[in-house]
Formats: sequence, structure tokens, C-alpha cells
Amino acid sequence: MRIPLIAGNWKMHTTVGEAVKLVTEMHRGLEEIDGVEKTLCPPFVSLAVVKELIKGTSIKLGAQNCYYEEKGAFTGEISPLMLAELCEYVIIGHSERRQYFHETGEIVNKKVKAALKAGLTPILCVGERLAERESGETEDVVKEQTEAALAGVETLGSLAIAYEPVWAIGTGRAATGAQANETIGFIRNIVDIKCGNAVSQNIRILYGGSVTPANAAEFMAQSEIDGALVGGASIKADQFLSIVRQTADIRRAR
Ligand code: PGA
Repeated sequence: MRIPLIAGNWKMHTTVGEAVKLVTEMHRGLEEIDGVEKTLCPPFVSLAVVKELIKGTSIKLGAQNCYYEEKGAFTGEISPLMLAELCEYVIIGHSERRQYFHETGEIVNKKVKAALKAGLTPILCVGERLAERESGETEDVVKEQTEAALAGVETLGSLAIAYEPVWAIGTGRAATGAQANETIGFIRNIVDIKCGNAVSQNIRILYGGSVTPANAAEFMAQSEIDGALVGGASIKADQFLSIVRQTADIRRAR
């Protein structure tokens, strides 16, 4: 039985002060919910302070990106080694990084390898753009992105994948539960071919893209969907709590 993972991707939101306020608003409520792994991914600058605030709770911490070198003259970059002291997870290959920061499949692959080497758990993001979905290329795109990201990776460890159709991110236009379930089943099959049945049955594959309290239950009720990567709704304490709570309720009822 895969334990669901709900990760909040705060993106470039919250100053340090605002991050403290947000965590203070939700950490007790989150702590009360069992059976779901709860992960907060604030901006780099707030990782240390959030780590202190959630100390001793079951809430986990993640970063939103990392570089692929351990250290060196790479001004402005943050290495997986630095993150490993602060957090457990790192989001890699988010479509915003691919789109605005020109991250290629090769770069994503290097980051996945570097994160795993440092002992971090990557949340690898894949997903098609609107034009690709409309021209029937969804499966080709997620296959190519998944295979490129995992090329030469021997052991996935606890790596999770987030299927995030680009057209659903931040648009309020979420995929349907059935659409997400189908593509996530397809991704699981890619992992199965690459890594075998034991790994593919264990790996958590999340849905991301306009997840809200209003549609979370629809996603969480799907057999292939193991949680969510939540953007906009993760920086509103009541909304994030509601999504986590609904996930726990649905899993408990299974
Ligand atoms: P959204 O973002 O929930 O605001 O659509 C999801 C994501 O980009 O991870």
C-alpha cells in the first residue's frame, strides 16, 4: 500500500516572515492528520526557519530546485549537498523550470542523479503542454521526459513522480480524475518496463495542476494517483489542510 504524499509547492511566494506565519497557521492541523505524508516546499531562503518550526512533527520539508554539482564556482546556485542538511525532498524538472530556465531532459537527469547521490528524494515533474495534448502526443511527451530524467539511474530509492499537465498548472483548469489516472497509469508502466514490477508498484506518482479542496477528492479516489503536488492552494493554510484531510479520509475508507 503506497502512502499518499501531498507536497505543497509554494513557488516564488512568501518572504521569510510570511513563511513563518503560514507554517504557524497550519502545522498543528497538519500534525493531527495521519496516514498521509505532508511535505512543505518553501523558497530556499525559508528552509532553515521552517525546519525549526516543524521540528519534532511528522511534517517534511522539500526544496523546489537544486543544481547538479556538489560545490564550486557556480554563483547563485544551491547544491543537493547543502539541501540535504535542511530537507528531505527536492522538486526537480518542474515545467516552470523547463519553460523559463531552459532545463532540458539532460539537465533534469543530472539533477535527479545528484539529488539521489546526496540522499534527497526527488519529486520529478513531467507533463505535456496544451498543444501536445490536443495533438494526441501526451504519452509520447511524458514517456520521453520520464525516460530522459531516469536515464542511467540505477536505484530510484523513494523518488516520486508528479504528473503535471502544463495546461492545468495555475490555470484553474485541472485535468479530470480519469485523465490524470490514465496518464499516471501509463507512467507507472514506463517505470515497470525500466525498473520492474516491485519498483513500479512502490513508486508514488502524484497529480499536480490546479488541485483545490473542491477537486482533491476526485483525484485521490483514483487507483493510480498517490497524492498531489499542490501549488496555489498550498499557500492558503485552510485549503492545504482541507486537501490533506480529504486525502486521509479517502485512504482510510479504502
Ligand atoms: P497549481 O500548481 O496547483 O497552482 O496549479 C501546481 C504546480 O505547479 O506544482
